[in-house]
Amino acid sequence: KKVVLAYSGGLDTSIILKWLQDEYGCEVVTFTADLGQGEELEPARAKAEKMGIKQIYIDDLRETFVKDYVFPMFRANAQYEGLYLLGTSIARPLIAKRQIEIAKEVGADAVCHGATGKGNDQVRFEVSYYALKPDIKVIAPWREWTLSSRTEMIQYAETNGIPVPASKRGEAPYSMDANLLHISYEGNALEDPWVAPSESMFTRSVSPEQAPDKPTEIEIEFEKGNPVAIDGVKMSPATLLAKLNQLGGDNGIGRIDLVESRFVGMKSRGVYETPGGTILLMAHRGIESITLDRGESHLKDDLMPRYAELIYNGFWFSPEREALQTLIDKTQEYCTGTVRVKLYKGNVSITGRKSPYSLYDKMIASFEDDGGLYNQADAGGFIKLQALRLRTMGISRKQA
Ligand code: ARG
Ligand code: SIN
Repeated sequence: KKVVLAYSGGLDTSIILKWLQDEYGCEVVTFTADLGQGEELEPARAKAEKMGIKQIYIDDLRETFVKDYVFPMFRANAQYEGLYLLGTSIARPLIAKRQIEIAKEVGADAVCHGATGKGNDQVRFEVSYYALKPDIKVIAPWREWTLSSRTEMIQYAETNGIPVPASKRGEAPYSMDANLLHISYEGNALEDPWVAPSESMFTRSVSPEQAPDKPTEIEIEFEKGNPVAIDGVKMSPATLLAKLNQLGGDNGIGRIDLVESRFVGMKSRGVYETPGGTILLMAHRGIESITLDRGESHLKDDLMPRYAELIYNGFWFSPEREALQTLIDKTQEYCTGTVRVKLYKGNVSITGRKSPYSLYDKMIASFEDDGGLYNQADAGGFIKLQALRLRTMGISRKQA
């Protein structure tokens, strides 16, 4: 019997590691993913070794994460409940996928994660596991063990020789999750939705008040809906997103504070920093505005909330998400060109857009000479027929 644990190297998953060894008496294989969370991963290896782990996987998944998960999602302009850019939601399926691959490689019959029994993450991990390996056994310690408080967990760690960092001792820390797309904060003082987040909590951005008084202007180049270059410099997906994070963070961009509806039914307060993603969303909408036809663009916007909800709820590996993706990607065939973006004290504004496939026709749109392509007289009949049913109704109901 063998289990593959999604191991961050932090306190919680270290406790889980020990608990698995004791409770299940099974061999544990650890898997630590680098998704650009900005933490050293070698300490995770050392900790796992110290706990007697023989098979330790540490994988750099940054490029795959951005290219095959973040960018497809941004081609859809996905936002959950109008605001959340899904930074945690989009990372879970990739972690689950790699975990299942490792389970197959090492002949493990089970996988284990450190998400609590109250949240979305448990659903995202497990729905993905089952989709990719229907007979996998899932261990979710938070739903099983008897450690019912932070104090008991720290006690468990201490009796078992797991080092407890000072930051975890005092008051409960924020529940955080970080990757190249975002960092999230939940819990602690944020549990009161009226309490404003403290400035010292933020790690990826300066406050708009502290941001420079001079705007930063950049040009982002897109190919088929994906950003490929900044200011003419081609970059790999992960490098490009990291660059946008830097630019956004320096200009106070991408902080959001919201209350969201978790899939399991409760409302939850979260604060997020998504500097690069916030720029990318605006810029992508900018290039779409000249390259997408109204019909395809509005259809996309109609479907977007459904697509976002699938990702939020953990259904990345579902036939309906894949079908929607095919539709979305079809609309991106001509979504190529350049957008000029101004970053200033928390704001992202588009100040220019151009494309070899632009549908914008200056001649037609012009207030000057329409060049005969658009005959203003045609509009009279167009409007009259559009209004026909309203006039009919107006006449008929006035008589009644
Ligand atoms: N509420 C966000 C979501 O459901 C963030 C979750 C953060 N997860 C975590 N383990 N701290 O996507
Ligand atoms: C957790 O409960 O593990 C984090 C929050 C979430 O999954 O929604």
